[in-house]
Amino acid sequence: MKQARPEAYRIKSFEEYQEKYKESIENPEGFWASVAENFHWKKPWDRVLEWDFEKPEVKWFLNAKMNISENCLDRHLENRGNKLALIWEPNDPKERFVRFTYRELYHEVNRFANVLKKNGIGKGDRVCLYMPMIPELMIATLACARIGAVHSIVFAGFSSTALADRIQDASARMVITSDGMFRGAKEIPVKRIVDEALESCDSVEHVIVVQRTRWAVDMKEGRDKWYHVEAREVSDECPAEEMDSEDMLFILYTSGSTGKPKGVVHSCGGYMVYTAYTFENVFQYEESDIFWCTADIGWITGHSYIVYGPLLNGATTLMFEGVPTWPDPGRFWQIVDKFGVNQFYTAPTAIRALMAYGEEHLYEYSLNSLKVLGTVGEPINKEAWDWYHIHVGRNRCPIVDTWWQTETGGIMISGLGGLSPMKATYAGYPLPGVLPKLLDEQGQEIREAEREGYLVIARPWPSILRTTYGDHERCKLTYFSHFKGYYFTGDGAKRDKNGMYRIIGRVDDVINVSGHRFGTAEIENAINKNPHVIESAVTGYPHPIKGQGIYAYVVLRDSEEDEENIRAAIRETLIKEIGPIAKPDLIQFVPGLPKTRSGKIMRRILRKIAEGEPGKLGDTSTLLDPAVVEEIVKGALV
Ligand code: WT7
Repeated sequence: MKQARPEAYRIKSFEEYQEKYKESIENPEGFWASVAENFHWKKPWDRVLEWDFEKPEVKWFLNAKMNISENCLDRHLENRGNKLALIWEPNDPKERFVRFTYRELYHEVNRFANVLKKNGIGKGDRVCLYMPMIPELMIATLACARIGAVHSIVFAGFSSTALADRIQDASARMVITSDGMFRGAKEIPVKRIVDEALESCDSVEHVIVVQRTRWAVDMKEGRDKWYHVEAREVSDECPAEEMDSEDMLFILYTSGSTGKPKGVVHSCGGYMVYTAYTFENVFQYEESDIFWCTADIGWITGHSYIVYGPLLNGATTLMFEGVPTWPDPGRFWQIVDKFGVNQFYTAPTAIRALMAYGEEHLYEYSLNSLKVLGTVGEPINKEAWDWYHIHVGRNRCPIVDTWWQTETGGIMISGLGGLSPMKATYAGYPLPGVLPKLLDEQGQEIREAEREGYLVIARPWPSILRTTYGDHERCKLTYFSHFKGYYFTGDGAKRDKNGMYRIIGRVDDVINVSGHRFGTAEIENAINKNPHVIESAVTGYPHPIKGQGIYAYVVLRDSEEDEENIRAAIRETLIKEIGPIAKPDLIQFVPGLPKTRSGKIMRRILRKIAEGEPGKLGDTSTLLDPAVVEEIVKGALV
C-alpha cells in the first residue's frame, strides 16, 4: 500500500506558492494529478476532471476507486503505526485524557464499522450522527466512510425538531448518539433529544448509543443498542469498501436564504485530495507537531480539519470536548501547554469572547509550543486579530485567516503559515487551484483594486459540493444561477492592489452568528409559529462577541398578552425549532413591516436600522406605507 508522503505536495516558500498557483491555473488536471498520486487508489482514474457549471456537474478522478478511511488509517500503519493519531481532552480538566495511536484508531474504526454492518448498514445508507465531542464521534465517522455509508453529522446543539428535519430529509436508516453529554457546566440529555426526534422519523431502524455520562436512558427494545455491548461481538478488522471517487462521502446540512436547511453533498476522491493538500500547506504541519482545531465535528471545519485533513497526512489531531470558558477562561491555553500544541485553529467569536475576559487569563501559560495560529468562520476584526497576534502568538506566530464554506469542503483563500505576507482582516491569496473573481451587480468582472464586489469562483476545485441532497435544482439555483458560468459564494469581498482578498460578509439573507449560519427565513418561520405573531422580518446587526446578532422585527395581533411574555415565548420557540444558538438577541414589536407596493419586505431598510444607521435608509419613496419606517426607527433597540 502506498504510504503517505505529504512532503511531496508541501509548499516551502512564497515563491514556490506563486509557481504552484500559476501551474494549477494553467494546467489544473496535471497539477491535481500530481497531488493525487500521493494517495492510495485501488484503481487509477481515467480522466482527472469533467465539469459543467451550467448543469451543474463536476467530477474529479473519474472512475478511480478508493476508500478515504484506508487513506486516513491503513496507509500509515507501516511508518506511523505507533504515532499518536488522536488526543482527546475531556470537558472536565480533572478527568483523564485519552490517546490513540494510528494502530489503535485503525482497530477502533474497524470495530465500529463491523457494528454498523451487523446492524444492517451498508454502502450508500445514510447514517445520522448526533453526538458530543468524544472519540467515538470521530471513530463512527470514519467507520461510515470505511463501509461506504454516507454520514450526516448533526451538531449536538440543534434541537430535536431540527434533528428530525435532517433525519427525514436524508432518510437515515440509523442514528448514532450517546447517553448524555457534558459541555462546560451543562449536562445535556442527548439520547432523550434523539428519542423525541424519532417520534416523527420512520426511516430509522436502529439507534446505536455510546456510553459517555453513564446516565440511565430509555432503550427501545429492538431499535436501540448499546455500542459497548455490540462491540464485544465483532472483530476489529473490517475490509474497506471499494468506493468510486464520485460516490457520496457525506451530507452536511447548512442554512441558506430559504426556510429549509439544505444537505450539502461531498464525494470521496476530490474531498480527500483537497482537504489533505490544504491542511498540509495552510498549517505547515511538521511530522511531530500536534494540531488542534477547536471546532465541533458537527460543522464542516471539524469534518475537514479535525478528522480528514489531519489523518490523511498522518498528523496528530487534538479533539476537545468542552468550551473555552469553563472552568475558567484560561482553558484553551492550559490545553495548549498541557500537550504542547503547535498549530491552533479557532474562530473569531471565541477570540473576542476570551478577549473580553482579559489577558490575565493567559499570564500563567507559556504558549511556547505554538507555531501557527488560524481563524475561520467569519470576518475577523482588527482588534481581535491584534489581540490574537500579541497575546496568544506573542508576536511570533503567523496568523492564517482561512476563508471557505461548507460548500467548498476545504480552505479556499488563506495565507500559508509563515510563508505568505499577512495583513490583518485580509484572508489573503487564493490557494492553488482556486480562481476567485469579483463581479458587479450586472455580472461584469471587476478588475480594479479596492472595489467591493460579489465573490465568485470561476473553476471547479476538487472538493466543490456536488449537489444538495435530493434536490439538484436547488443546488443549481443557489450557487450556479446568479452569475452564469460561476460558483457564487454568497459573500462580498474586495481585493487590494497586491491581489489580497478581504471578505466583507454575506450579501444574501444569511446571518453569521458566532461563525454559524442561519437563514433569515428559517428564523422567521419559527417566529411566525407563535399564535400572537402576524408576521416578522429578521436581520443581522453588529454584535461585539458574536460578530452578528439576530434582530427580529415582529408584528403582533391585538391581544391582552404581556409583551415580555411574548418575547420569552418567541425565544422558546426558537430553542425548540432550531436550538439555543438561533435565539434572537433583540425583538422589536412594530406596527408593520416596510414593504414595496408589490408586497416585498424591504430588508435593506431593516438592516440599516439594526445597524444603527437610520440616517442612511436611502430611497423609501417606493414604499407602500413610509410612515411605518418612522415608527420602527423611533422604537429601534440599537
Ligand atoms: C461562511 C461560510 C468554513 C468554515 C466555517 C463556516 C463566512 C468563513 C471566513 C473568513 C470571513 C468567513 C463567510 C462564508 N466565513 N470563513 N475567514 N473570513 N468570512 O462555514 O457555515 O459554511 O459559513 O462563513 O461568510 O460564506 P459555513
